[in-house]
Amino acid sequence: MSGIIEVPGAKNAVLPVLAATLLNNGTSILENCPELDDVLTMNEILSALGCKIKRKGSQIEVDASQLTSSSIPEVLAKRMRSSIIILGAVLARCGEVHVSYPGGCEIGMRPIDMHLRALEQMGAEVDGLNHGMLRVRAKKLQGCEILLDYPSVGATENIMLAACYAEGETLIRNAAKEPEIEDLQAFLNKAGAMISGAGSGVIKIHGVSEIKTQITHKIIPDRIVAGTYLAAAAATGGSLVVTGVDYDHIGSILYCLKRCGCKIKHYQGGVVTLEAEGRLKPLDLVRTSPYPGFPTDMQPQIVALLTRCSGTSVVVETVFENRFRYTEQLLKLGADISVQGRTAIIRGVDTLRGADLEARDLRGGAALIIAGLTAEGETRISGVNYIDRGYERVERVLSKVGAQIRRVED
Ligand code: EPZ
Repeated sequence: MSGIIEVPGAKNAVLPVLAATLLNNGTSILENCPELDDVLTMNEILSALGCKIKRKGSQIEVDASQLTSSSIPEVLAKRMRSSIIILGAVLARCGEVHVSYPGGCEIGMRPIDMHLRALEQMGAEVDGLNHGMLRVRAKKLQGCEILLDYPSVGATENIMLAACYAEGETLIRNAAKEPEIEDLQAFLNKAGAMISGAGSGVIKIHGVSEIKTQITHKIIPDRIVAGTYLAAAAATGGSLVVTGVDYDHIGSILYCLKRCGCKIKHYQGGVVTLEAEGRLKPLDLVRTSPYPGFPTDMQPQIVALLTRCSGTSVVVETVFENRFRYTEQLLKLGADISVQGRTAIIRGVDTLRGADLEARDLRGGAALIIAGLTAEGETRISGVNYIDRGYERVERVLSKVGAQIRRVED
């Protein structure tokens, strides 16, 4: 592979910011939004709640001045479990919210206990109604101090959203520090909220009475998409230029790629270049952890890269309890991987051979593409709908930098 890839806006930033537009009793214009299935689903949910949505290319305009419902349609909530981040915003704006319990998925149970416990601490009434529906009500949420057992990204986002209209001050301790949390704070403050501390692990939110304005906000670049394409170039011994990235957001990813032997440079204006010559070196240990550690969302991609390294690597997944399922597919290519609980041991092999594979989750699917690109012969990957949730037209992007990949209608 060789060429230039412009990195799109971040899926995991635009989704919570779209949820936050519900707090603005006016019009929010979002720029640099990626064109992804999950973003389409979120737009459908906002429309179902009464928002007027206009999409022009990578710009989305949301007018949330006339909300008409506080129920998130079950079919949409089931299609995208991360719709749960709408909970706090609808509750804050409408005083109640109905949503179906988000199910687990390929990578884990994905419970929402921390979300609900925090909202109850703020005075909300939570009814886990039968047949999987959730009803949360609160006339007026009360600001309070909340300690998260784990720096959950979604729980941090939901509390920030709910606290915007709460009485008094809310403090979140052990908050997630991801860049997407900082982007959410930036959007909300631009709209008139009063939040500080995002990225520091302790976030303070002063409740306000109303947010009614017209604002424009540019979504931050997608650090996981950038890391995925850099890993693909590294795995195939290529050279790649990615533009529009925030170098600080991908520091831990670049650190691992450098340790594998890639030559990486970065330039002003968000340009990062990668050169990978010859066989990559193994990594004696990679442990995923909350930001700024090595991101769990890059774990499958780095494992795919390590299958061809000159030695044995160990990857430990500390964030999700079941995020190695995709390795069963990599074994079909001839990879040598053994998984025990949250630890994968990858012994590098000289060659992988193409096979028919099945993607069952977004980042696992990306890993199958990376492995397929390094394999001899043809690899066919079904379940591309999972990959489309997080990567814009992945086959077009990769073809433009020399990959032999095409979408086959199944
Ligand atoms: C966000 O999911 C991301 N999704 C995930 O990206 C990402 O993997 C994850 O954060 C971790 O970085 C979006 O932003 C839309 P968590 P989220 O709450 O918020 C446990 C991708 O591929 N937990 O930080 O659901 C949970 O089970 C996706 O783009 C509880 O136990 O992640 C997990 O083990 C995949 N109780 C851990 O915390 C709770 O109430 C981290 O989850 C909440 C979470």
